Amino acid sequence: NKNIAIAIDGPAAAGKSTVAKIVANKLSYIYIDTGAMYRALTLKAINQQTSLQDEKRLSELLSTTKIDLEQSKDGQRVILDGEDVTLEIRSQQVTNNVSHVAKHASVRREMVLRQQQLANKRGVVMDGRDIGTHVLPDAEVKVFLVASVEERARRRHEENIKKGFDSNLQQLMDEINQRDQIDSKRETAPLIKAADAIEIDTTSLTIDDVANKIFALANEKL
Ligand code: C5P
Repeated sequence: NKNIAIAIDGPAAAGKSTVAKIVANKLSYIYIDTGAMYRALTLKAINQQTSLQDEKRLSELLSTTKIDLEQSKDGQRVILDGEDVTLEIRSQQVTNNVSHVAKHASVRREMVLRQQQLANKRGVVMDGRDIGTHVLPDAEVKVFLVASVEERARRRHEENIKKGFDSNLQQLMDEINQRDQIDSKRETAPLIKAADAIEIDTTSLTIDDVANKIFALANEKL
């Protein structure tokens, strides 16, 4: 068996990370959540009160920032300059600001280099917005996951309620739409399906259905 790269892209809250983790486990591959890297930089910028519109300051900040993705039993941990920020980077404040940080070309250039290094060994499942188009254009399997915004918001809403968090379905829908807009309309590496990616609409599929489909695509290449 050879080791391949699996790229999973798609809009916000389409279930990318959930299925990516399952597929990575099944294949004993590493899972790399590239969104977590943009979130970590966003958290640091907010904490240091760096303007999220200031591209130069943000890319300088990134150049002195260490972001480690650690694989652990209970999933991936995100370590920012030595500090575990796994939970903090999921806050509403980070979620609603990350797309502003991720639109800057020089920030993306550095992030893509780091991500390519992480995937260098292959045997990798990577999820994000530009993995099939820019980070791993030669990935053996490319998947573009989509689902209606109503369904994506509904899933997030249920997750929030299960965790005991406050949640408002309409607000979630607005925030998801807003993030997709910024990610799709930016100049540098916008969210778009790679020409050779396979689109899977997960609206009426279960998590296992989606994971099995991707696993089957991977098996064709192994
Ligand atoms: O995947 P997640 O929702 O955590 O990503 C957070 C944000 O990071 C996205 O909305 C997008 O702005 C940015 N992102 C990106 N390119 C990636 C991964 C994430 O621009 N490869």
